[in-house]
Amino acid sequence: MSAEIVYLNGQYLDRAQASLSVDERGVHFADGVYEVVRYFNGQAFTLNEHLDRLKRSLDGIDLIFDADTIAGISDELVQRNDLTDARVYWQVTRGSGLRNHVIADGLTPTVYLSAEEAKPLGAAPPLPTTSVITTLDDRWHNCWIKSLMLLPNSLAKTKAAKAGAGEALFIRDGRVTEGASTNAFAVFDGELYTHPADRYILEGITRNVIIELAKSQGIPMHEQAFTSADLPSADELFITGTGTLLTAITALDGNMIQDGHPGAITNELWDAFVQRVQADCGAG
Ligand SMILES: Cc1ncc(COP(=O)(O)O)c(C=O)c1O
Repeated sequence: MSAEIVYLNGQYLDRAQASLSVDERGVHFADGVYEVVRYFNGQAFTLNEHLDRLKRSLDGIDLIFDADTIAGISDELVQRNDLTDARVYWQVTRGSGLRNHVIADGLTPTVYLSAEEAKPLGAAPPLPTTSVITTLDDRWHNCWIKSLMLLPNSLAKTKAAKAGAGEALFIRDGRVTEGASTNAFAVFDGELYTHPADRYILEGITRNVIIELAKSQGIPMHEQAFTSADLPSADELFITGTGTLLTAITALDGNMIQDGHPGAITNELWDAFVQRVQADCGAG
């Protein structure tokens, strides 16, 4: 359930009182970018990484806005909503101006934040699991920008939900790029693979934490794409994301992965991830 107080353009408001202009470019052109940040135990996890990615996304669409101002607003929103464990949504759009493809000079960005309660991690949380489908990656070529243009992602996720699955893995030119709102990892012969952070994926913050943890655990790690043809022979598959954390994939397109039980490397990385959150945020 969403908390009641949201932030919009300098004001903390009841959700029901917050409204946008009909001339908002975010509505007409998806002209904006966003972040989702996870708070554990009242602390924003990987805050600086989210701020850095927001800056890259803003640069990617030539939107001038001082991203650093968001951190304090985000903390205050969590406090005002009396939350400790939350997912906080940050959105910056170009602002409102009469609908025109050509972006007018001098628009004032619209800044919107909302906070949603999340389940505390707990001391020894079980590894989350899900099933996935595969689907064509027909998105644009700038997936590295965390853009509001999420219709393909939303359609893919809906297709997954209709198939009883929790995520859709995108396939571009035969390669698994990422999930609709997650990054995808596979284990083959004891080695871990994920798509390189090029323009065809969003460079997930959780992805990068997992890569770092894999390296420190001595797990051979390759930022190298695997194909949809490789998928059935994967020893282990999992997805990562701010909301998803690390979630093992137990079935793919209706077929069980191995025996349907998450493998050793996935479990090891989940334990390492939980320890990292506990060390950073004191959660548990
Ligand atoms: C397309 C896509 N890929 C990957 C991710 C995971 O990124 P992060 O771990 O930073 O949440 C997301 C998160 O929303 C996403 O939308």
